[in-house]
Amino acid sequence: MVKQVRLGLIGFGNVGQGLAQILAESAADYAAARGLELRIVAVSDALKGSVYAPEGLDAARLLEKISADGNFHGLPEEKPAWDAVAMIRESNADVIVEMSYTDLKTGQPAITHFKEALSHRKHVVSTNKGPVALAYSELQQLAAANGVQMGVEGTVMSGTPALRLGMEILAPAHIHRVMGIFNGTTNYILTQMESGMSYAAALAEAQKLGYAEADPTGDVEGFDAAGKVVILARLLMNTALRLDEVDRTGITALTQSDVAAARSAGERWKLIGSLEKTETGLNASVQPQRLPLAHPLAGVSGATNAIHFSTDYLGEVTLIGPGAGRLPTGYAVIEDILAIYRE
Ligand code: HSE
Repeated sequence: MVKQVRLGLIGFGNVGQGLAQILAESAADYAAARGLELRIVAVSDALKGSVYAPEGLDAARLLEKISADGNFHGLPEEKPAWDAVAMIRESNADVIVEMSYTDLKTGQPAITHFKEALSHRKHVVSTNKGPVALAYSELQQLAAANGVQMGVEGTVMSGTPALRLGMEILAPAHIHRVMGIFNGTTNYILTQMESGMSYAAALAEAQKLGYAEADPTGDVEGFDAAGKVVILARLLMNTALRLDEVDRTGITALTQSDVAAARSAGERWKLIGSLEKTETGLNASVQPQRLPLAHPLAGVSGATNAIHFSTDYLGEVTLIGPGAGRLPTGYAVIEDILAIYRE
């Protein structure tokens, strides 16, 4: 028997549209292969408006409307008076998919969306780093108290299953260190600088390609990677860190001649996020590092991300894959929904 899963989307930017595209193309396959029919019933976007159809919206038609007009205005399913909170409270969605912009200072408005959804006994799947970096324990308690689950795979390395691999498979092997390339924008800039492009031109390209945050300061100063290090500390090492406990340096001070000097020495600059267990606790940092070319993270180029786990029983394990982008981040949502319903 096929079970229907009704989705309420908050945010219909790059990630929301990526998710809609995946569902337009593959929802029938997932229903056949997994017995789960994923339907978008509601979307609420602060700029594009809200739409709702309790029996399901046509994902392809939503995408066409956005590409034609940039908003949902005039669709028969439009709910002009709804915002995200109204959508959570009044729609029949089983899962709220939180894809609004990340704010690593306050976590808002996403934390409010999480709390509303969880307290209305709706599962939450999110690609938004703010709530996970700032309020995970509290949200987890709220989820447990209401008998629902949270899925946050897309907050680190988009759909590349870094969190699931770490939490489910590698944690019992005792992870004592994690290091990785957790920001696509800065890795893209460093790669392009090595080919001679200027910092400014490379950043502009990363923005055009949709990798950079709305304010790219978050990328180039290392805040985005630091947020991911905080999430990894919480989920893989059961340690609650504040963002300001991550020793953080971005890439803005690196010049083209620094990049060229590393290259002629057989090394490469990478912005490395790392977590290491020590006798006294956990060292957490985001720093540009010069890696020898033979290091597993040195060959990871462009917007690609990677995570390198050091474990007691399995030794070193490296996972390389997309860390941003419309379809890879939209796909993270699919992974989480399938995991929630598998349980
Ligand atoms: N701005 C982020 C990056 C997006 O460049 O990696 C994914 O979190």
